[in-house]
Amino acid sequence: MRRYFLTDRYGVFGNPIGHSKSPQIHRLFAEQTGQCLSYEPLLAPLEDFPGFARAFFQHGSGANVTVPFKEQAYRLADQLTARAQRAGAVNTLKKLDDGRLLGDNTDGVGLVRDLVDNAAQDLQGRRILLLGAGGAVRGVLEPLLAQRPRALVIANRTPAKAVALAEAFAELGPVRASTFAQLEGPFDLIINGTSASLGGDLPPLADTLIAAGQSLCYDMMYGAEPTPFCRWASERGAQARDGLGMLVEQAGAAFELWRGVRPETRPVLEKLRAELA
Ligand code: ATR
Repeated sequence: MRRYFLTDRYGVFGNPIGHSKSPQIHRLFAEQTGQCLSYEPLLAPLEDFPGFARAFFQHGSGANVTVPFKEQAYRLADQLTARAQRAGAVNTLKKLDDGRLLGDNTDGVGLVRDLVDNAAQDLQGRRILLLGAGGAVRGVLEPLLAQRPRALVIANRTPAKAVALAEAFAELGPVRASTFAQLEGPFDLIINGTSASLGGDLPPLADTLIAAGQSLCYDMMYGAEPTPFCRWASERGAQARDGLGMLVEQAGAAFELWRGVRPETRPVLEKLRAELA
């Protein structure tokens, strides 16, 4: 009997999903590593994410999950990796051989790889400030603490959320909460995990948080123009980096989970950066 090789199906669930760069990134990874697969943007309905995801996985092999479904994907998964469990959110689903769904979270490792591998940052012994206490920050705490910083301070507009996060991760390293007003700078690394940029806004940040020429300011968001946070940092003499590299690196880790091959992320990041410019 003739054997047919059917393309494995992947995609990204989101709503909205039109501007997602994930299809382009994964198609480039597939081309580069010689993998036969398809990857589509999937507009999941807000009112029935589980039904839509289950229908996809009747034939699909894996999916990424983006706003606003990461918590729902966490609940949908039959099995979770340790890091997804800690993050309380899933950005990568993989159908296992027995048909069950494995949930992983590669956002944190994506951020750390972009900082360490691409931006040549050594985080050990450093003072890190994390802005925000929502899902984005929760997802990166464990991998950041694994880098053994000297201190990791979480500051949030609603202080109680920062306190709860710091308590939940305290056993993993030197993490504590602070209000914006009580922050004592400077920090070696300031990471913006708030969604303030979406409204063109900034958290209330004092200039003294930055040591000019030494601090790195990292925004998990990115855009064609520098984000308000990156602009704030550059104007005060800090190095600024947006989250495009994190996006590519989290995709690379997801691709590796699905296909067992680690793609080269740098050429893909360079291509995307050139297209944004
Ligand atoms: P995500 O999953 O992207 O993290 P989220 O869970 O809604 O989204 O969290 C958004 C984060 O951005 C929160 O920390 C939020 O602060 P609050 O907890 O006080 O709501 C923060 N945020 C949003 N807009 C902000 C703004 N204009 N200034 C400061 N912080 C802001």
